[in-house]
Amino acid sequence: MQRPTDTLRGDHAITSRGIEVLRAIATHVRGGGEFPTEDAATLLRFLREFLLAVHLRKESEVLCPAVAMGGDERAAALVGDLVRMHEEVGELLHTLVLFWEPVGELTTDEQQGFADTATTFASLVARMQGIEEERLFPACDATVPADDQLSWNEQFAQFDRDPAAIAAWRARLDVLAARWLA
Ligand SMILES: [Fe+2]
Repeated sequence: MQRPTDTLRGDHAITSRGIEVLRAIATHVRGGGEFPTEDAATLLRFLREFLLAVHLRKESEVLCPAVAMGGDERAAALVGDLVRMHEEVGELLHTLVLFWEPVGELTTDEQQGFADTATTFASLVARMQGIEEERLFPACDATVPADDQLSWNEQFAQFDRDPAAIAAWRARLDVLAARWLA
């Protein structure tokens, strides 16, 4: 059986690719480049539909409660920190939506605001994923019995709903990466 924490590490790899593209777009926009409306919109959809609606739910609704209940005080404190980071990620993403769906052309200030927020968002997601991989996932595998994790991949699949969606996002991110990370 694939360990649920390995499933989550796989999600992180996909998210990291999107975050790399986001950083590249932020650098381009900060340097005065034209705002790439379509690519930014695709990336925004990815972050909302995959990172927020699928990946973070696997962690906040399945993994985090189990670790908080099964672990010690330090594990509970770690989960508390990560829940706050998840919320911050949601709030920053909402702010990015405001920049990404402007009524007209972005002003220079708005472009800089977008670039700054995108960079802050990218750093936060990278930090959050690092903490999860270094501390949360090991704490989970050490404290939650394998039997208790048996149904998790099935529960995760319910968030995915459309099994083809992840493959489709991978393909779209490949196109973006070829354009922005070449
Ligand atoms: Fe995660």
